Amino acid sequence: MNPIAFWTKSLLGVFCVCVGLAAAPFLAEASADREKLLTEPGVYGTFALFSLGDTWTKQDQATRISQLTLLKGVVEQHREKIAIDLYLLRGLSDQADLMFRVHAAELRDTQQFLVDLQNSPFGKYLKGAGLMHGLTKKANYVPGFPDQLKADLKVVSEPGSKPYAVVIPVTKSADWWALDQDKRAAMMQEHTEATLPYLKTVKRKLYHSSGLDDLDFITYFETSKLEDFHGLILSLEKVKEFQYTRQFGHPTLIGTIKSLDEMIEALAQ
Ligand code: HEM
Repeated sequence: MNPIAFWTKSLLGVFCVCVGLAAAPFLAEASADREKLLTEPGVYGTFALFSLGDTWTKQDQATRISQLTLLKGVVEQHREKIAIDLYLLRGLSDQADLMFRVHAAELRDTQQFLVDLQNSPFGKYLKGAGLMHGLTKKANYVPGFPDQLKADLKVVSEPGSKPYAVVIPVTKSADWWALDQDKRAAMMQEHTEATLPYLKTVKRKLYHSSGLDDLDFITYFETSKLEDFHGLILSLEKVKEFQYTRQFGHPTLIGTIKSLDEMIEALAQ
């Protein structure tokens, strides 16, 4: 273990024991039902982007580590109600240094987390770099797909870690929304068929944003093979449905998925 990781872990351990956060059984009982929040419809998904100001890097390492222990406290405390995932964007995306993906049954619980985060001593180094909200919903088109396609969609992605996450906001044109359901369903079937070769290496999640943001959708992907993801996008750009896309990306966010401890280690360096 490198020295930074060692000291970060040691100090975090002391902090967590002091405030009672390290008691694993307590956390397991108290933490939100992450599995449900990540899989069920009717859950709010928020993507919160932050940059770290210059003052952060000017702090000595001991100060940085002590501020990060407080970040850990805020995240652990809110994990009792909401699911929080962390991503390091620094070095891959120029929009922000880090991203939180938050799933909550109530958007106000996400708000409380983000306010507490920004009010924490670590928060004073954070500069908001973007915020997107969406809602998970039951599939609109899949129930009407042929049985074979529904079965094909059930292919589970290859086991093993998928270190990369990509987030692409999407907005469709007024012409799309004016089409009747059958026409949209036929095009979404074509969209889905084009994605089948990539099911093994790309995991996806869709958030509906109309009315919650200036977008129609937030699309989220995890992969270990960015080359496959690139191929997937090229395939989708060829289907008819793509012609109804008004916004694709802007920004496209790409980062690596980090556990809380990995993120703290990365930011302490
Ligand atoms: C493994 C890759 C993918 C698979 C299996 C997949 C599959 C699907 C399916 C089945 C739906 C219909 C959901 C429903 O019934 O409501 C859908 C919707 C959608 N997909 Fe994909 N997709 C993939 C990749 C992508 C990519 C790369 C994008 C764009 C970045 C994208 C954008 C969308 C959008 C915006 C919708 C919502 C369309 C609407 O409701 O009008 N998908 N996808």
